[in-house]
Amino acid sequence: MTPQGTATLALGDKNYSLPVFEGSEGEKAIDISTLRKQSGAVTLDYGYQNTGSCASTITYLDGEKGILRYRGYPVEELAAKSRFVEVAYLLINGKMPDAQEREEWSLLLNRHSMFHEDMRHFFYRFPDRAHPMAILSAMVVSLSAFYPELSQHRGDEGEEAINIAATRLLSKLRTIAAFSYKKSIGEPFVYPRHDLSYCANFLNMMFYSPVHPYEIDPVVVQALSVLLILHADHEQNCSTAAVRLVGSARVNLYAAVAAGICALWGPLHGGANQMAIEMLEEMMARGITPRQRIEQIKNSKGKDLLYGFGHRVYKHYDPRATVIKETCYRVLKALNIQDPLMDIALEMEDLALRDEFFISRNLYPNIDFYSGIILRAMGIPKNMFTVMFALGRLPGWIAHWKEAHEDPRFKLQRPRQVYVGPTLRHLEPGQCTTEPSHMPLARSR
Ligand code: ACO
Repeated sequence: MTPQGTATLALGDKNYSLPVFEGSEGEKAIDISTLRKQSGAVTLDYGYQNTGSCASTITYLDGEKGILRYRGYPVEELAAKSRFVEVAYLLINGKMPDAQEREEWSLLLNRHSMFHEDMRHFFYRFPDRAHPMAILSAMVVSLSAFYPELSQHRGDEGEEAINIAATRLLSKLRTIAAFSYKKSIGEPFVYPRHDLSYCANFLNMMFYSPVHPYEIDPVVVQALSVLLILHADHEQNCSTAAVRLVGSARVNLYAAVAAGICALWGPLHGGANQMAIEMLEEMMARGITPRQRIEQIKNSKGKDLLYGFGHRVYKHYDPRATVIKETCYRVLKALNIQDPLMDIALEMEDLALRDEFFISRNLYPNIDFYSGIILRAMGIPKNMFTVMFALGRLPGWIAHWKEAHEDPRFKLQRPRQVYVGPTLRHLEPGQCTTEPSHMPLARSR
């Protein structure tokens, strides 16, 4: 990137000149990386609300206009006209696959869908009530022990080794997710089948059982593909930023993605889909009306949240929520399901969008508000909702990890701080547990 101009920062009686870069959609960024060297000052930005950590070619997002594009393609178009595995290819490789690439990609995903048989035993050691996200992150980091080719990323592994690790992870995460569910319900594991597509295979591993054979419904397969596409990337969100940050220490892909899974689990991020459905269920069970619930949230002074609402970057409707809502209607109709939670959700949304509290704070439904309704219709249990999000987000995490490692400017990510603790002080005699004369001599190593 070449600077398109300069910005001048006045600090005290001095002016500092800083380069300004412009993105391909006209976004401006002031490069402050030399500011401390020039002036001794750092910038302070709680929650990185205004800080760009990299330049990226993967996803473009305009939160004010409600735009989301992967590699230039609108997410709505991808959701309507492509399959999840193609979108994963697009994100990771930068282009849509042609017919031959699609064929090879599917073959590779099939070839890598199993994991080392020893890893199967790990599942049995988790307690029955273990959250599947805990199992998922532990199993993903364990992959680095079984497939150590990328154990430390030194930058000289070659493209092929990285591509194999990426494909392996994409394919195995689906198997790990399904196995963790089977373990939680005490049913035997179902192995992946080479004749099934990515999404159909996952559904079969989740729901097939020798006593209840599972018929794969194309409506559910298509809805799952759409859901995963909508989750596939979202530029520098919390979990992707975690993958990049942890990856900046040059750990392997599996370890960096395990960190992303842990970040995603949080209720302010991907964990919101489980929280949103639990809220709707609780309202139904306890007879709380949408109006009462909205008032509780408003009166809680920020302690209680409407999960599935609000977003750091969308200050208008989340475009993914629009597609999810339409998909919800379609799936419920096709499966002939009348979900009372859908009616409660619609009423909550309607009330919130007309309420000054939500209007003044730009709080609109995000992707997590309606995704739980589709997942319920598919038969996915609540504690697997965030796992489904992780399956979808994986291509984005891989694409960002790869892009960062190919970028010659990728540095160890290490933010600064403003220290506001005590200034220099010394231990008083009464605070010392060891008299100075008895202290062991420091040994040099
Ligand atoms: N319900 C009620 N009030 C909310 C909500 C909500 N969902 N979200 C934000 N607010 C309020 C805050 O309390 C705050 O009010 P105040 O100005 O009176 O103090 C104001 O709106 C601004 O909120 P912030 O927390 O400062 O906004 P921020 O950008 O930091 O937060 C976030 C974004 C974390 C997503 C927030 O909207 C939230 O907690 N939403 C609920 C959880 C959720 O759905 N997360 C999923 C996000 S999408 C994703 O990660 C996939």
